[in-house]
Amino acid sequence: MNSASDSQEQTAVLFICLGNICRSPLAEGVFSALAEEHGVRDRFRIESAGTGAWHVGEPPDSRSTAVARQHGIELIGTARRVESEDLREFDYLIVMDRQNERDIGHLLELYGGEAALELLREYDSEAGSDLDVPDPYYGGPDGFDRVYRMVRRSCEGLLQALT
Ligand code: 4NP
Repeated sequence: MNSASDSQEQTAVLFICLGNICRSPLAEGVFSALAEEHGVRDRFRIESAGTGAWHVGEPPDSRSTAVARQHGIELIGTARRVESEDLREFDYLIVMDRQNERDIGHLLELYGGEAALELLREYDSEAGSDLDVPDPYYGGPDGFDRVYRMVRRSCEGLLQALT
């Protein structure tokens, strides 16, 4: 499946969380860096967005930026909300938790769209039965380390699946 608007050869992947400042920008940055490392960055359109609008226009949370930087990854972009066009333009809507999955599922029912809707941790080699990437927003920095490790393993699995 491939419907990326700017290049027919690209697979379009949209990472989605609630605020688009903690988890999904981290997933976007990690997946981009891994694709770069593997020499396949050009094959992908990679973005992130949130189901909520509270943080639209803001840069990623400083704790996500810090944990990414510790691993040599610079996060880019500012928060935006998921739009109905995303459902048509992206091949994969990769959500961080089941609440995101429900919210995007409703949008797909409402607006239609052929995109695959998947939980990121379906690609986590160490995931148990709980496939949520927990929301680290109200916790401390150790929550961000944990989220980074989950996101990293999952993005490695996702990249392998898509290449
Ligand atoms: P995110 O984290 O969904 O991973 O970006 C959150 C950021 C902000 C809020 C909740 C979650 N908030 O309620 O403002």
